[in-house]
Amino acid sequence: MNKLATTFTGLEFVNPFVLASAPPTESKLKILKAFESGWGGVVTKTIGLHPVENVAGPKTIYQRTSETKPYVSRMKRMETVSHSSWNWELISDKPLDLWLPDLEEIKTTYPDRMVIASIMAGAGSDEEMDNWSKLATSCVNVGCDAIELNMSCPHMDRKDMGANIANDEDIIRSILGAVTSAVSVPIWVKLTPSTSKLVDAAGAAYESGASSISLCNTFPSLPLMDPETMKFEVEVDGLVTSGGLGGLAILHQALQRVSDISKAFPDKAISGIGGIRGFREAFNFIVHGAGNLQVCTAAMEEKGSGGVGQNPGGEGVVRQYEFLRPAQLSLLTERRLKGPWGLAGGGDGAVGVNLLNGETIPAKCNLSVVAGDLLTLMTPGAGGWGKP
Ligand SMILES: Cc1cc2nc3c(=O)[nH]c(=O)nc-3n(C[C@H](O)[C@H](O)[C@H](O)COP(=O)(O)O)c2cc1C
Repeated sequence: MNKLATTFTGLEFVNPFVLASAPPTESKLKILKAFESGWGGVVTKTIGLHPVENVAGPKTIYQRTSETKPYVSRMKRMETVSHSSWNWELISDKPLDLWLPDLEEIKTTYPDRMVIASIMAGAGSDEEMDNWSKLATSCVNVGCDAIELNMSCPHMDRKDMGANIANDEDIIRSILGAVTSAVSVPIWVKLTPSTSKLVDAAGAAYESGASSISLCNTFPSLPLMDPETMKFEVEVDGLVTSGGLGGLAILHQALQRVSDISKAFPDKAISGIGGIRGFREAFNFIVHGAGNLQVCTAAMEEKGSGGVGQNPGGEGVVRQYEFLRPAQLSLLTERRLKGPWGLAGGGDGAVGVNLLNGETIPAKCNLSVVAGDLLTLMTPGAGGWGKP
C-alpha cells in the first residue's frame, strides 16, 4: 500500500509533493524529469496570452547566511546556509500553442501524476474574462487535471494582473465565474499573501467555486545593496525594482496565512507553499491545515557553481593556501561581481569568491599575510549552454 497517496480536491496524488509554478516546471523536459524523480504532481509555470518580456540578466538569486557572519547576501561564502530566493521573473514567455502539445505528451507519459496548469490573464473587460476561459479550456482539453489561477505574482508589469488584483473580491468572483463556466476540473486559486484582506479574498474565491487556495506566492521585496561595492546584488544597468522573496525566510509567514484561512474555513482545502525543504516544513503546513504541499526554491537552489543548461556549465574549484611565513601577494582574479553568462538560454555561472581568514576580499588587491593566514580562492562556475 502506498502510504503517501492522498486525495486532494478530488484528485488522486501518489504523494502530496508537488512542484510549484516556477522554472522547474517551465518545460516538458523538466516536468518529465520531475515525474521520473517521483514528484506527485506539478503546477506548470504560469501560462498567459499576453506578450512577456523579462529583464535582461539574472532573474533569480539565492541568498545565504551563516552563523559566524550572519548577514544575508547572494555572495557565496564558506559554511553558509540557504536563507531565501529573490526573483523578478515574469510568467512563462512560451506561447499557449507551444505548451499544449507538451502538456498532452506529459499527461500521456505519466497518467498517474497530476498536472495542474497555472494560468493568468487580466481583469476589467470581457476580453480578459474570455482569455481566462480560453486558457483554462485549452489546458483541460489536452488532459490537465486541474487549473491554478495566478492572482498573486508580486511583480507583474500590468496593473490588472497578479497580486495587483488579488484584493478585489469582485474581480476574484468574475474570474472564477469565467473559468468555472468553461471547465469542470478543480480550480485552485493562488492568492497573494501581502494583503490584510486575505481571508475575505479566500472567502470570495471559495464561494465562487474554488476547490482550494494555494498559499503563498513570494512576498514583495527589494534586493540588497552590497556595502562593499555599493551595487545592488542583482540589477540591470544599475536599476532595480521590487521582486519576490521565497524559500526558508518566508516559512513562518506562510504558515500564518495558511492557519488564518484554515481557521476561517475549516472544511476547505489549502495547498501549502513557502519554504518547504523536507519533512519538518511539510509537517508544519499539514498541522495548520494544508492537504497538499508545493515546493519551489528548494528544488531550484544552486547546488554547485556551474550555470544550468542543456549543457550545464562546469563547476568552479576551491583552492586553499595556508601561509607558513609572512608574505606579500597580489590577487588578479575576475568574475567576482558578475558570473560568466550563459548562452542560448543557459543560466549564468556563480560568481567566484576570495576569502582571507573567512572574510571576503576584493578581486584585485595586494595583501600582506602572516604565518597561519588562510587564503581561499573559489573560482566562478562556467555559464550553461541551451535552455535546460
Ligand atoms: C524564479 C521564480 C519564478 C516563479 N514563477 C512563478 C509563476 O510563474 N507563477 C506562480 O504562480 N508562482 C511563481 N513563483 C512562486 C513559487 O511558485 C512559490 O509560490 C514561491 O517561490 C514560494 O515557494 P518556495 O518558498 O518553495 O520558493 C516563482 C518563484 C520563483 C523563485
